[in-house]
Amino acid sequence: MLSSKNKEKIYIKCIESIRSSSDSNKLKFISELLFEAFHSWIFCGFYFQDNNKLILSEYSAEKIPCSPIEFDGVCGTAILNNKILNIEDINTFPGHIVCDENSKSELCIPFEISDIKYVLDVDSNNYNAFCKIDDKYLKEIIKEI
Ligand code: SME
Repeated sequence: MLSSKNKEKIYIKCIESIRSSSDSNKLKFISELLFEAFHSWIFCGFYFQDNNKLILSEYSAEKIPCSPIEFDGVCGTAILNNKILNIEDINTFPGHIVCDENSKSELCIPFEISDIKYVLDVDSNNYNAFCKIDDKYLKEIIKEI
């Protein structure tokens, strides 16, 4: 597992790259950058709300993820409650939607762009992979979109 210090260092580098990038597709750039930076991540991507479904936007992943998905999963619950959801062990979340059976923990951060509801979703192949450091830096990264 990464130490808090190393995790922060990686995020700070990523934020510098995002700020200096001229790539107009921010969602694609961010999902690829973070996926490559964190080796235990097996999915990093964005879903957006379309009526009663969530549709996958840009992403990087080890396996082809599911889309569209229903609102009873981790992503949908984060959007419905407008709250960050950090699931330390995905087996404890009854509605969890399995896109990759190697996923052990998941972090979902909801946000809005031009009245469209999005969620940044990241999955790890380790239990308990995410903490307040991830919340803090991923929220900062979302501000750059
Ligand atoms: N596990 C999510 C589905 C999306 S994938 O993890 C890529 C959920 O329960 O909503």
